[in-house]
Amino acid sequence: MKNKDLSSIRREYKFKDFTEINVDKDPLMQFKLWLDEAIEKKLTDSNSMFLATSTKDGSPSIRTILLKGLEDNGFIFFTNYESRKGIEIDENPNVSLLFFWRELERQVRIDGVAEKISRKDSEDYFHSRPYESQIGAYASAQSKVIANREELENEYEEILKKFEGKEIPLPESWGGYKVIPHKIEFWQGRENRLHDRIQFSKTNGDWKVERLAP
Ligand SMILES: Cc1cc2nc3c(=O)[nH]c(=O)nc-3n(C[C@H](O)[C@H](O)[C@H](O)COP(=O)(O)O)c2cc1C
Repeated sequence: MKNKDLSSIRREYKFKDFTEINVDKDPLMQFKLWLDEAIEKKLTDSNSMFLATSTKDGSPSIRTILLKGLEDNGFIFFTNYESRKGIEIDENPNVSLLFFWRELERQVRIDGVAEKISRKDSEDYFHSRPYESQIGAYASAQSKVIANREELENEYEEILKKFEGKEIPLPESWGGYKVIPHKIEFWQGRENRLHDRIQFSKTNGDWKVERLAP
């Protein structure tokens, strides 16, 4: 199937340059600068990212999630540990994250290893969420096949009744992961497709910086 309209969609990228001189030596600090800029500019879902996982025999899957914490050594998100992504991370903790800030003509690619955060940290975050979201997480066996929407809504109402006026306990199957990166690539769109790509790779505990051809 040929689509004429798609083949002619293209644009020039000229928002900013990004060179070895203005990049922070610590890629997580550099990431924070770009994330802060996306947040300051009030970009929609500025903390959204794609998470790619794969089974142990290499079959991939990808989905959108939200970055909920940034630490000196990693990227934190929350999910259901028994979801498809949770099962795949159990089988193979090697994951990739991808941020795309369209308006800033920027992409960040991260390769790393996912590990569960402590139950206490998951609990603290879980209880900081709106009450209804806590119930929603409790009511949904994420990624399992369900009969219809009614089943989900009935489960929600039941949990709501069960915990009326009480604190919702953190479900066993719910919590956070931290992705500890070993490769981070910053992409800044430039004119004539001569984009800037600066890649950090961790070797023997230190970050090596290289430029990649666009
Ligand atoms: C903007 C956006 C943000 C999302 N954030 C999360 C999130 O933080 N955690 C999560 O488990 N799912 C999130 N989802 C839903 C996931 O994309 C996905 O449907 C769900 O996690 C099940 O994925 P899985 O079956 O691959 O495990 C989000 C979806 C969108 C579109």
